[in-house]
Amino acid sequence: MKSYLEINKNSWNNRTAVHLESEFYDVKSFLEGKSSLNSIELNLLGNVEGKSILHLQCHFGQDTISLSRLGAKSVGVDLSDKAIEAGRELALKDNSDARFICSDIYDLPNHLDEKFDIVFTSYGTIGWLPDLDKWAKVVSRFLKPQGKFLIVEFHPVVWMFDDDFQLIECKYFKSDAIKTTEETYTENAEQKDDFVTWNHSLSEVINSLISSGLQINSLDEYDYSPYNCFNQTEEFESGKFRIKHLENKIPMVYSVLATKGNI
Ligand SMILES: C[S@@+](CC[C@H](N)C(=O)[O-])C[C@H]1O[C@@H](n2cnc3c(N)ncnc32)[C@H](O)[C@@H]1O
Repeated sequence: MKSYLEINKNSWNNRTAVHLESEFYDVKSFLEGKSSLNSIELNLLGNVEGKSILHLQCHFGQDTISLSRLGAKSVGVDLSDKAIEAGRELALKDNSDARFICSDIYDLPNHLDEKFDIVFTSYGTIGWLPDLDKWAKVVSRFLKPQGKFLIVEFHPVVWMFDDDFQLIECKYFKSDAIKTTEETYTENAEQKDDFVTWNHSLSEVINSLISSGLQINSLDEYDYSPYNCFNQTEEFESGKFRIKHLENKIPMVYSVLATKGNI
């Protein structure tokens, strides 16, 4: 039987090829200078000029390269070798010094031996990881004392619903692995792939970070997603998407900013 890592790696490799051609990721505008970062993370990151940033689960690196355009020394990490290959090619085309490492997050300490001012991860990341205590230890391992960690992530409430947001299908709290076969979220989706995911409640995220030696500076929830990546959406303000029939009744995204202690 294939492991969750083999299944997800293969499917993210398939998705990468589709994403590179999509309007959703709009590589052409990106290479013409458009940043892929959204105001939520830009406001929370603050000025990154001269900062070293480890970007976990970077996909094909648009955010990693956007951070290096802002003057950061960024390193992107992802499980998908196809995504990392594409990230390196984009960085070359962009004259960027962003670096890329292909690794499972849990295995990263075997591939990288540096400490960073900031560790950053966003939108569609921790759901691919079964154990958040293990994840938070990796985050902490790569932060300098007083370094900042920022996660901006889809809210676990969103993952409770069926694809059309009509029914509650999954538990809010973490349960066994969720096995799905689905098309990707870009407009040019072609085929269905198998995935293995986990739902992580907010308390699980926060407590894993606290246990790994981080202090929580802020936890915020947003009633919109900056990405139009769900069914049944409306753009109620420019760049802000929510589920039309649910209006502002559910949280769509959350962010946690944390600081590593001196140890
Ligand atoms: C939704 S994308 C990342 C989000 C990013 N904001 C974006 O849209 O470009 C999720 C990424 O997580 C990566 N990933 C999944 N499981 C992983 C693991 N165990 N270790 C490292 N990366 C993983 C996938 O390869 C994929 O590139």
